[in-house]
Amino acid sequence: MNFKDYIRVIPDFPQPGIRFKDITTLLKDGPAYRAAIDAMKELVKHKEIDLIAGPEARGFVIGAPLALALGIGFVPIRKSGKLPGSTVEAAYDLEYGKDRLAIHSDSIQPGQKILIADDLLATGGTIATSIDLITQLGGEVVGAAFLIELGYLNGREKLQGIEVASLITY
Ligand code: PRP
Repeated sequence: MNFKDYIRVIPDFPQPGIRFKDITTLLKDGPAYRAAIDAMKELVKHKEIDLIAGPEARGFVIGAPLALALGIGFVPIRKSGKLPGSTVEAAYDLEYGKDRLAIHSDSIQPGQKILIADDLLATGGTIATSIDLITQLGGEVVGAAFLIELGYLNGREKLQGIEVASLITY
């Protein structure tokens, strides 16, 4: 399946010059969504993984079904102020803007092997910050899996030492 056929590119969103990769057109197609998650599972199934962690919001629609497919649990990484329990947090830069990410302090036990999953690797800021949070909790990040990688933004360079797998590259 050519997954790019299911992704809509919207020019100048959310600001001029950005060509937004809209995955909603893939998500609403049941067989394509299922095939994308199955293909991501194939990319990571050789790994020993205890938990998937995924950043809000689009990381949830990739990370949670991937966790189900692998038969393991899912840990949400959220924007600051959304998680009800005790958290650790970190500030980060986005492709367009700034924000803070948070994770529940008790969501990962020291030594657990964590795969990060998200829809998109752009500048790598979101995932670098997610790695920071997981590492603060004593988790071991064993890889990062993406539906889409924007190769021209060189996000991989921010993820030195982490095995990166992407289904689609632009
Ligand atoms: C998008 C995307 C990734 C991140 C990638 O999320 O879903 O998480 O940006 O960019 P980066 O590699 O430059 O950090 P966004 O923060 O827009 O949030 P959303 O998923 O809630 O739309």
